Amino acid sequence: MGRGRGRGRRIPMDIIGSRETGAVAVVELREGDDPAEVAAEVMRRHRHVRSVLAKAGPREGRERLRRLSLLAGDPNTEVIHREHGYRIKLDPTKVYFSPREGEDRRRVAEEVEPGERVLVMFAGVGPYAVAIGRIQPEVGEVIGVEVNEDAVRYFEENIRLNGLEGRVEVIRGDVREVCPRLFGRFDRVLMPLPLGARDYVDLALRCLSPRGGILHYYAICRGEEGVGEEVGAVSRVAGCLGLRVEVKGWERVGHYAPGADKVRIDFIVSPIGGRDVSSKSGSCNNPSRPEAF
Ligand SMILES: C[S@@+](CC[C@H](N)C(=O)[O-])C[C@H]1O[C@@H](n2cnc3c(N)ncnc32)[C@H](O)[C@@H]1O
Repeated sequence: MGRGRGRGRRIPMDIIGSRETGAVAVVELREGDDPAEVAAEVMRRHRHVRSVLAKAGPREGRERLRRLSLLAGDPNTEVIHREHGYRIKLDPTKVYFSPREGEDRRRVAEEVEPGERVLVMFAGVGPYAVAIGRIQPEVGEVIGVEVNEDAVRYFEENIRLNGLEGRVEVIRGDVREVCPRLFGRFDRVLMPLPLGARDYVDLALRCLSPRGGILHYYAICRGEEGVGEEVGAVSRVAGCLGLRVEVKGWERVGHYAPGADKVRIDFIVSPIGGRDVSSKSGSCNNPSRPEAF
């Protein structure tokens, strides 16, 4: 989060875009702020910011969008964000994107080995898939699944923008409908949907190769106890499917709310007694978390 200090004021904001092609600032207004003054100050401090948007509500719904209102600048809020040597085109008013997660994308992408087949569920405009394709150019294949039409359109553009045709692909649709066609195919599965990944753990595990693989699971957790609860939830689904999961490690990806963090938990998944889980019938899923975050 960028925090400016000019005139003694701190402005919580995210800047999405680049110095070369321009950027959009997404600010959080606080009580007493004059929106026009805040916008003018952001544009004065960050000359490459073309538009200033203010958060006007929480992220909502399946597509995890929030209302944003234009405080100043260009009403065309499409930008090309640069991070770690790749470019991501998007419009923050139409799709989910967080520049704060760039470091997490780099860390995950750096773990991918040559020849690996990778599935990114809840793929958005493709930042994880693009990061993997660019940081590990010898990856076998990367498939993203995404339901938001605008995000899928940007994902397709981002594949071209980063020269990843033939290695990275996006499938439009709900993971519940798309993933059964992909069972048993991947060495690594990412689940970057922290508020809902738990509902889809059985699908993700079934998408892994019968030999097993790596699961990157995201959740909102309150401390280590919260991480333990998520590990328990994933382990129960795995056990039901005849799989063993071992925690390889976990990392805090970012702050979510007072006392709650966005966390990535990495699991090594392996079959118990050589069972093929992709063909197991019936549901092994966990119910969603009961409490509201
Ligand atoms: C938290 S965002 C993450 C997007 C992307 N991975 C990123 O990091 O920028 C979750 C994404 O999952 C998509 N999504 C939510 N539920 C889905 C489902 N059942 N099937 C496919 N996509 C889904 C949303 O539209 C949204 O783009």
